[in-house]
Amino acid sequence: MATLLEQLSEMTVVVADTGDLEAIRTFKPRDATTNPSLILAAAQIPAYQNLIDEALKSSRKRIGNGAAVEDVVEEALDEICVIFGKEILKIIPGRVSTEVDARLSFDKAATVAKAKKLISLYNEEGISNDRVLIKIASTWEGIKAAEELEKEGIHCNLTLLFGFSQAVACADAGVTLISPFVGRILDWYKADTGRDSYPGPEDPGVISVTKIFNYFKDNGYKTEVMGASFRNIDEIVELAGCDLLTISPKLLDQLKKTDSSLVRKLDSSNPSNFEKQIHLNENTFRSMMEADRMAFEKLDEGIRGFSKAIETLEAQLAHRLAVVEGGDAFSHVVHEIFMLNDLDGDGCITREEWLGSDAVFDALDHDHDGRLMQEDVTSGLGAALALTSL
Ligand code: E4P
Repeated sequence: MATLLEQLSEMTVVVADTGDLEAIRTFKPRDATTNPSLILAAAQIPAYQNLIDEALKSSRKRIGNGAAVEDVVEEALDEICVIFGKEILKIIPGRVSTEVDARLSFDKAATVAKAKKLISLYNEEGISNDRVLIKIASTWEGIKAAEELEKEGIHCNLTLLFGFSQAVACADAGVTLISPFVGRILDWYKADTGRDSYPGPEDPGVISVTKIFNYFKDNGYKTEVMGASFRNIDEIVELAGCDLLTISPKLLDQLKKTDSSLVRKLDSSNPSNFEKQIHLNENTFRSMMEADRMAFEKLDEGIRGFSKAIETLEAQLAHRLAVVEGGDAFSHVVHEIFMLNDLDGDGCITREEWLGSDAVFDALDHDHDGRLMQEDVTSGLGAALALTSL
């Protein structure tokens, strides 16, 4: 019997929800999604350190030697998202989702500007707009920003979508795709009710996506529905037939290892919609959101969580920039030291050749053999500089 993953792929576009390139190679999805937490996680993988360094160096080059560290880091953040996106696009045939800085979620103009910046970085790399979805939080401002971007040919994926009102506003705005969350809705209901499990069909996240899917299909909206944020494979099984589902490598692996028959649950040609069509303006959107405690709280928490991930990554980038640029400065200083002190040019500085103080020589000569080689000077430079600044 075919695995659950094979059967699911026949009725739904399976998307990988990760920044881990190896996982994407393993599961060969059509599309892939990233978010700030996933980029932060990918940035911790030692094999990708070169991508981070590449982004830092190109950001420094782009904005100039005189630029402040925080400006280089801000630039590098955009470049890192695009570099990971570019690497992902080398593996997948479809689209990658790249998220706008969550801290801009309540600022329409800043969201539009950041989306255009990200798309221009992709375009500079020869990647066309149809291979990228700009991911934006489903606030009123985010949805309106997406409406404007779509009119300019920039395709959007509206994320952190928990409530029906968010989905309705996205469809009216003509966005390309929405990512209604499943698992985070389940998390909220578990915490709110104290109930520790919900079988797949009763899962409130599954019910939410099912309602949105049927409403969209019944009313002929073009906006694609991509279920996201899964906690277990039962939730995925209950949404078989959805346009797309974005799934973590861990759950993709479980689907791959499970042999059981999969039944289509959602059918775009035969939607079972029980909702009357509505249209929202800013006031009706906001009052529906305020009335939906779960959606209101989870949207707020989601934006705060992604913002925190970005701030953590920024701090790491600032640190790494110091290492990368300090490294270059060090090699320059080492070269100068040899120019001045290696009088016979044999690649080794003896105590007799040394023009500085004995204390500095001793700090550099950490193997105490009375000779300074390139490696001694490179590794001992920090200690020697500390000594000279005393
Ligand atoms: C994808 O678009 C979402 O960012 C992702 O599925 C969120 O998943 P999580 O709730 O496990 O963080």
